[in-house]
Amino acid sequence: MNKKILGGALAGAMLLALVGCASGGDDSAGGAKDPSDIVVGFAQVGAESGWRTANTKDIQSAFKDAGIELKFSDAQQKQENQIKAIRSYISQQVDVIAFSPVVESGWDAVLKEAKDAGIPVVLTDRAVDSKDDSLYESFLGSDFVLEGQKAGEWLVNEYKDTTEPVKIMQLEGTTGAAPAIDRAEGFAEAIKDDGKFEVVASQTGDFTRAGGKQVTEALLKSNPDVDVIYAHNDDMGLGAIEAVEAAGLKPGTDIKIITVDAVKDGMQALADGKINYIVECSPLLGNQLVDVVKKVVAGEPVEKRILTEETTFDQEQAKAALPDRKY
Ligand code: AHR
Repeated sequence: MNKKILGGALAGAMLLALVGCASGGDDSAGGAKDPSDIVVGFAQVGAESGWRTANTKDIQSAFKDAGIELKFSDAQQKQENQIKAIRSYISQQVDVIAFSPVVESGWDAVLKEAKDAGIPVVLTDRAVDSKDDSLYESFLGSDFVLEGQKAGEWLVNEYKDTTEPVKIMQLEGTTGAAPAIDRAEGFAEAIKDDGKFEVVASQTGDFTRAGGKQVTEALLKSNPDVDVIYAHNDDMGLGAIEAVEAAGLKPGTDIKIITVDAVKDGMQALADGKINYIVECSPLLGNQLVDVVKKVVAGEPVEKRILTEETTFDQEQAKAALPDRKY
């Protein structure tokens, strides 16, 4: 390289370094921003279940403990409310937007608006079905297909010694929501090889206790001989228990009940013998979300998919776990 070119290259490198320092602003000390300078907008699904309430509480307290400002909105299970909230966070120029999408589809336009505004988005709990994964930084939450599989595997094992038909009623979560789609898929996959299992009725209870009760009441009239109720969450399972009891049957004995979540009320019903098996879905995502937010703001790489660790509970395990259950 001749001296002229070398000199030009050095000057260019120095200029780049200077520009880097100047644009770094608050971030000059290793890219980190003081937590008290970070503002996050969180668009929650709603307050439809015990799980959701625990999730909201955990996220709010994790951000409070981290000293990060959290703007919070409750979409009351309506996608248009979540989209409005996200647009409002974009116009307020928050540092990061986090949200738990009520349904999987229909997010591309608003996510593109956030991207164009330079605001990173983190998905918590539920996924979107967008083909373009550059529209969000990371998706933090459970493997819902695996949860459905675990529910189905328990059932297969529970009925391994019988050749009689096993009639199943499925209480689905919110139509179009990732956990409703995936938990149905995983369950179907687990029972598909044994012809004695038949899902005789499947309807949404919208992840609520009232929905679970109402749907079970109606479906029991047309299917009085079901053997099993598989509910996509504890709340719908708890509603189903009320309907089963009102029909003069014993939940957990006359009709076996499997649910997902493992919130305290569900665990109590499991310990009392009214539910037979619960697949855990942890709502405690707050601290992990804080970590992801800090990294994203600092410009550090984050994993595209962060999985939550979860277990399962039978009736004896529920009795043992209940005294220490946090939610
Ligand atoms: O997305 C998680 C699901 O949403 C939980 O299983 C359910 O209880 C909640 O409403």
